[in-house]
Amino acid sequence: MDSFLIRGGHRLKGTIEISGSKNSALPIMAAILMTEGKTTLKGVPRLLDIDSMTRLLVELGCQVHRHEPADPGTVVGPALNGPLDIEVADERQCEARYEIVRTMRASICVLGPLLGKRGKAVVSLPGGCAIGDRPVDLHVRGLKKLGAEFRVENGNIIGEVRGRLKGCRMYLGGALGPTVLGTINVMCAAALAEGETVLVGAACEPEVSDCAEMLNKMGAQIKGHGTPEIRIEGVDKLHGTEHRVIPDRIECGTFMIAAAITNGELELKHCNLDHLIAVTDRLEEVGVKIERKDGSVIVSAARRINAVEMTTQPYPGFPTDLQAQLMALLCLSDGISVVTERIFPDRFLHVGELNRMGAGVRKEGPTAIIQGVRELQGANVMASDLRASAALVLAGMVAKGTTRIDRVYHIDRGYEKIEQKLAAVGAQIERVKEEKALGSLSAVA
Ligand code: EPZ
Repeated sequence: MDSFLIRGGHRLKGTIEISGSKNSALPIMAAILMTEGKTTLKGVPRLLDIDSMTRLLVELGCQVHRHEPADPGTVVGPALNGPLDIEVADERQCEARYEIVRTMRASICVLGPLLGKRGKAVVSLPGGCAIGDRPVDLHVRGLKKLGAEFRVENGNIIGEVRGRLKGCRMYLGGALGPTVLGTINVMCAAALAEGETVLVGAACEPEVSDCAEMLNKMGAQIKGHGTPEIRIEGVDKLHGTEHRVIPDRIECGTFMIAAAITNGELELKHCNLDHLIAVTDRLEEVGVKIERKDGSVIVSAARRINAVEMTTQPYPGFPTDLQAQLMALLCLSDGISVVTERIFPDRFLHVGELNRMGAGVRKEGPTAIIQGVRELQGANVMASDLRASAALVLAGMVAKGTTRIDRVYHIDRGYEKIEQKLAAVGAQIERVKEEKALGSLSAVA
């Protein structure tokens, strides 16, 4: 497993191109299972999770082809990725096997599309993960309301539809708020159901809207996406289309924090700041300067930042996927910050690792109390999940000395070429293959 070696203390300056959204691309790829004819997706990032979804779609009878990039000389940025063609060739297979589901929980996205189109789905139950319990009861509840029948057998959820799914009005919220992938699963299945479905308590995340927009281009009739009430008039079939996935708001937010934590200045291109309103609000509150330019944003911070309170919430609130990264920044604030996690209350594995770097974070239930310190020190730390790993990269870039982050495959699941993007704007970061990582830290001297 690869590691990152980071020598801290370098201000970032320059331009970074934001990739297409992983969390949009994954359910959108799964939704293509419902279509007839070829769909071409643009802006799909090159990531381990996208490779896993590609493998899953191929097992489910799709032909997937990635075109060569328009500009093969480009190291990073949208031109790196050629369009992705996906076409269903064979509808007989309905099973998402454990071997793939265990590497990527977003495999659950095939449940709704398979039930809507093929009338049967066998999906290995995802189980828990590093950010806490990840139940799928709301997905199942919503699909049952459309008429699917479920049983659990040998670790798999098996869903079947007699005849065709039937639209209805339903409440989709859970104890911890709406569910993003659950909303997408039910919305997809309802797109091919008979009659009208109304999803009340739906997730409003931009990734839900992006999927709805693509389905509408395919002939679906979906309205109200982006609000808590989505109306879907079922249609008989969906056809192929062309679609560009939205920019990755979490990658963009991570690089905004990278500019702030290094007291640097970054221009982030191809981003949509409207999707980051709560993040912009918290960053401005702590003293980060954010200037909009056409389709891009310039982020800078010239001094020590202020402490702040922040609670993660469903969209448009502050995203849980940026909680760890903001915490890394707040470790260096002037005062005491309070961070409360309302989406995944156990998503705090980064706390122990940040403390190993000299941070002053104390966890009390779903809340972390952060006593700002003047500096962090380099250390050997362990990446535990995707966003926690990003937080450690941020901390490493400002820490005194060298930080080694092990198990960076977590970060490869969701950040496209992060080390190349950061190195291009002045970070001293290097990927080290397993054998070399066990050796000397002088690699980044
Ligand atoms: C999506 O996961 C994202 N994943 C997550 O990003 C993100 O953290 C999460 O939404 C919240 O924004 C993808 O898009 C691939 P949820 P999802 O269902 O849809 C509870 C990352 O780092 N819940 O919205 O699986 C759940 O436990 C990843 O990129 C139920 O109780 O999350 C949580 O407390 C990690 N029952 C809350 O709802 C269910 O059936 C919200 O989860 C489903 C969810």
